[in-house]
Amino acid sequence: MTQDLNLGEVIVESDALQRRVQELAAEVSRDYAGRDLLLIGVLKGAIFFVADFMRALSIECEVDFMAISSYGSSTKSSGVVRILKDLDAAIEGRHVLIVEDIVDSGLTLQYLLRNLAGRKPASLEVCALLRKPVSREVDLEARYVGFDIPDRFVVGYGLDHAERYRALPYVAVLTESATE
Ligand code: IMP
Ligand code: MG
Repeated sequence: MTQDLNLGEVIVESDALQRRVQELAAEVSRDYAGRDLLLIGVLKGAIFFVADFMRALSIECEVDFMAISSYGSSTKSSGVVRILKDLDAAIEGRHVLIVEDIVDSGLTLQYLLRNLAGRKPASLEVCALLRKPVSREVDLEARYVGFDIPDRFVVGYGLDHAERYRALPYVAVLTESATE
């Protein structure tokens, strides 16, 4: 593979990612033991995280997906969230855990939490692999967080820039020139 000049510093190495996913799954398995857990993966960024996380759980669970769009191909959140694909099934009375790739401004998650809370789940929590510092501006708590990362635009392990770089096994910074 040729070196991609748009890729900068690696923020989370592949083995650290895998270790942390196992830890999060162990924690969630303990917390949800004996409960009817439904994972909601947020497409497309969370695909690898959901897949690895779900396989690492030691309890049974179901999975559903939602696709929402907040960025288009830009690197700044617009705050305008659109549902591109809704859930297949109702979540009323279910213990729902939203599995997100990254919380940046928190606007996407805030919208999602409001929307899903209206559907009357038994409980509603968030598991985010990555969190940027800005998200603390919005009053929003993710119960499970993989890594706190600096305020840089990152790609890999599901995260893209204009649909590229999702398949990288690690998370790396995208250099400024690539986003201009
Ligand atoms: P928020 O609404 O600003 O929290 O943005 C959330 C969504 O924007 C995430 O689910 C990602 O899809 C995308 N996003 C935010 N930061 C990044 C990044 O650094 N790289 C790639 N996608 C990002
Ligand atoms: Mg996303």
